[in-house]
Amino acid sequence: MSDSIVIDGGIPLRGRIEVRGAKNLATKAMVAALLGDTPSILQDVPQISDVSIVTRMLDAYGVAVTSPEEGVLVLDPSNVERAHFAQIDALAGSSRIPILFCGPLLHRLGEALIPDLGGCRIGDRPIDFHMDALRAFGAIVDKSYEGIRITAPDGLTGANIELPYPSVGATEQVLLTAVRARGVTELKNAAIEPEIMDLIAVLQKMGAIIWMEPNRTIFIEGVETLSGYTHRAIFDRNEAASWASAALATGGDIFVGGAKQQDLMTFLNVFRKVGGAFEVHEDGIRFYHPGGALKPVQVETDVHPGFMTDWQQPLIVALTQAEGVSVVHETVYENRFGFTDALVEMGADIVVHQDGLESVTRRVPRRKLEQAAVITGPTPLHGADVRVPDLRGGFSYLIAALTAEGRSTVTNLGIISRGYEHFVEKLEALGARFELVG
Ligand code: EPZ
Repeated sequence: MSDSIVIDGGIPLRGRIEVRGAKNLATKAMVAALLGDTPSILQDVPQISDVSIVTRMLDAYGVAVTSPEEGVLVLDPSNVERAHFAQIDALAGSSRIPILFCGPLLHRLGEALIPDLGGCRIGDRPIDFHMDALRAFGAIVDKSYEGIRITAPDGLTGANIELPYPSVGATEQVLLTAVRARGVTELKNAAIEPEIMDLIAVLQKMGAIIWMEPNRTIFIEGVETLSGYTHRAIFDRNEAASWASAALATGGDIFVGGAKQQDLMTFLNVFRKVGGAFEVHEDGIRFYHPGGALKPVQVETDVHPGFMTDWQQPLIVALTQAEGVSVVHETVYENRFGFTDALVEMGADIVVHQDGLESVTRRVPRRKLEQAAVITGPTPLHGADVRVPDLRGGFSYLIAALTAEGRSTVTNLGIISRGYEHFVEKLEALGARFELVG
């Protein structure tokens, strides 16, 4: 695929595109297939590079992954075997998903070798919650030059775990480990994102016993065997919200096929407050700019059911066109406003407060490492040459280039294909004027 795109901006995006299964569920459901004794079938799998990376990791461990038709994966774990170091090492730095192989591999092989992780550079992104949880199940964690080696000589036993923060990945780690551990696991302060609920649905189809109590508590009763599943992945909320912000910023009108209201309610409220309009249909949601001025907002990112950290970057581009001062408080990651530098180069007025800002209207208590971005608009954007820094920041550059007057070049597009399926074809369908280069 080309590495760069030259965009002639200033044209409202209009038309219909489809979103398929969520990156942040499909990749985890693929890992869950390792736990079954029989093949699993996953439907609505997006063609994105994170899916390819997990496919390679599964392949290294002997899981046969085939695709009988577009969007469908059959994952056969009948011949799970130890991986060669070179195969694992080749995946180092490419994604964070491999960390979730730990529990399933411990159950299947008694040991797990995990490459050094990658993923978006949006802060430290430590794995201490994951490792502490695995130790609570009885695993032994060794960090070596090869990566992380985890063993469980006495098998894994259910545990009482309380996460210091409702981490998505650590909750998934506990679920994928507890389902086949001996006894009952109680997980307190769990993340409850819709993708996690969908992963629980996958595991229940496989034979797991999982129930929830109020206040973010999940119980898992371990079972001896699990079988394969057939499952259609939940739609990609982050992609849907990204296209919605693109419609707003460019003054356009986009029908996002496959988007569902229930899982986007928090986003829809903010979208409406900014001055965007939407219509909920059976088969998707139409997002459009109804005319008139956009309004400034105060937003705090948070864990579900709050406003997702992955929604703020595309929204910020729309906020550069709102009349007045908006504030976005980032409370999930400690360094997720780096992408705004390029927006400033394109004419936006954005000031990032690295130590955050106090505000009397805050809903989320201030976190230690948070930051705030103050966006003053409206500011016309002009074309520039920008380089994609991370997945969501990168998509926001596409939106900025589409909104700007004049020509922009966006390079390092490979990162965007980690999470946005066929985004070039979708831009074409929406009437964007661009050319791929490189
Ligand atoms: C998932 O990342 C998503 N990635 C992220 O999507 C998303 O932004 C994030 O959840 C929050 O919703 C995938 O699902 C692959 P976390 P994850 O553990 O699981 C701290 C995208 O663009 N933390 O909930 O890695 C961490 O540093 C992305 O699609 C620890 O301190 O997120 C962060 O501040 C990027 N120790 C906070 O918790 C740990 O061991 C939340 O992280 C783990 C996390």
